[in-house]
Amino acid sequence: MMRLAVLVSGGGSNMQSIIDSTKTGILKGLAQVVLVISNNPNAYALKRAKNENIKSVCVERKNFNDEKSFNNTMLEELKNADVGIVCLAGYMRMIGHEIIKTYHGRVLNIHPALLPKFGGKGMYGHRVHEAVVKAKEPKSGATVHFVEEEYDTGEVIIQQEVEVSEADTSQDVAKKVLAVEHQVYPKAIKKVIDFRLNN
Ligand code: GAR
Repeated sequence: MMRLAVLVSGGGSNMQSIIDSTKTGILKGLAQVVLVISNNPNAYALKRAKNENIKSVCVERKNFNDEKSFNNTMLEELKNADVGIVCLAGYMRMIGHEIIKTYHGRVLNIHPALLPKFGGKGMYGHRVHEAVVKAKEPKSGATVHFVEEEYDTGEVIIQQEVEVSEADTSQDVAKKVLAVEHQVYPKAIKKVIDFRLNN
């Protein structure tokens, strides 16, 4: 069984879709979520983790003097839980390079647009969908990719498109994209696990 950590900051609907897929979907028998880390003590994702009886910890930057000790604590948590893959699911911080180095090729992120479009620093959550509507894009979508040091630059694992109509508001686009995100994240994790098992 592949041991997954999920890093969250907010609602955690993507985290939930990953958990559900390990219980009854395509990750059943292949993976389990063993740790949830949030940087936000009020994240609803923490409640979800509790409901699922999954260990969760809140690691807040403000409780540390510097970036290094903050990152080291995260790394310790991941190592202690013997995690094999780290899934960023609405985690609204850059993760430390020690983590990227230690888990290189095993840190995944989901982005609510068709990267490389509408990615990079400052492009997250609703801002992405507002930019898509403003640019009158005929389509958007979800991308799961490997995490590298630069924001939103790692190799794409899976991308799925949604159509955007002229009448769509950014909330409409967010809703369509989120529905697709819930399908692609478990698929991308499966793809990475299958690849690792066969290589
Ligand atoms: C998702 O749409 C995810 O793609 C996005 O935040 C939302 C989290 O929702 N992530 C980013 O924008 C990261 N750059 P959730 O907490 O319900 O999964």
